[in-house]
Amino acid sequence: MSPVVDLRSDTVTKPSPAMREAMTHAEVGDDVFGEDPTVNELQFYCAELFGKERALYVPSGTMANQASLNALTQPGDEILCEYGSHIFNYECGGPALLSGVQLHPLRGDHGILHVDQIRQAIRPDNVHHPVTRVIALENTHNTAGGVIYPMEKIREIAALARETNLRMHLDGARLMNAVVETGIPARDYARCFDTVTLCFSKGLGAPVGSIVAGDSDIIERVHRYRKVYGGGMRQAGIIAAGALYAIQHNVDRLPEDHANARRLARALDEIPGIDIDPEWVQTNIVMFKVQSERFNASTLCDALRERDILMLPISDIRIRAVTNLMISEQDIGYTIRQFEEIFA
Ligand SMILES: Cc1ncc(COP(=O)(O)O)c(C=O)c1O
Repeated sequence: MSPVVDLRSDTVTKPSPAMREAMTHAEVGDDVFGEDPTVNELQFYCAELFGKERALYVPSGTMANQASLNALTQPGDEILCEYGSHIFNYECGGPALLSGVQLHPLRGDHGILHVDQIRQAIRPDNVHHPVTRVIALENTHNTAGGVIYPMEKIREIAALARETNLRMHLDGARLMNAVVETGIPARDYARCFDTVTLCFSKGLGAPVGSIVAGDSDIIERVHRYRKVYGGGMRQAGIIAAGALYAIQHNVDRLPEDHANARRLARALDEIPGIDIDPEWVQTNIVMFKVQSERFNASTLCDALRERDILMLPISDIRIRAVTNLMISEQDIGYTIRQFEEIFA
């Protein structure tokens, strides 16, 4: 059987032999006692990377977001976020369930909120209203198609947060994709936020885990919520070694994923029946619409599957393809040829 070109997500990556080697030889200890040297090394490395006092390794991006939001809020508070954000759509109502807070989603332009929109959404001090406490941004923005938050917009929003005494959270699941594309260091992004997360299990190719970085007092609270959520792990160094390997070795190659995504987007733009704006393919996510009498998103993905290509239908007409470290230039060439044949 020929290998499958799996473009459903950058979470499908498997650890490379070198990463597995690092995991095999990881020094471990009981991390609930704070005694796992590999977890400690990863946390120290990431605190440095983000220019924050502390960082905490957690099992998933969802836990990273939820523990951060809980640490930043009190029950009854409100969090401003974007309509397509992961915390609003794909975390099972976690903020309401776990923190007793409500989300107030605002519609962005390709996932990007304007500072004036946020200013208008901040609740006045009135006994009827919830207290607006946090502004949560996502960079890169997943459902907008890996769109990068422009730094000047983040700075404007952060200035508003300071002025109005709000806290800032960044879902940076794919922040390193933004970092390599813009050349803006991770710590410059992180400076604008009280809590910042990063996933190792997406484009960076590790099997498990995310990090939350922030100042000591806030990470102390995140640490407590990690324990509440059952995320205290014991000899976690085995998986943390994969994460450490990922952040040290797999960042510099991310531009290859971006080049593959752009090439795919440009080719799809040439196909009648596919609607895509390649200008908005800025990192490793390619979102497009099917506008064909022959296919909807689901039946086109079925046709691709028959040709050993996997993509994700995310609505009746929208499909997502995500390049990653298991996808080569040849795979993209093959995928483009199959599209051309299917639509010939
Ligand atoms: C932007 C974003 N944030 C958070 C997450 C959650 O990560 P996890 O699947 O590790 O919980 C994802 C997962 O796809 C994501 O895309």
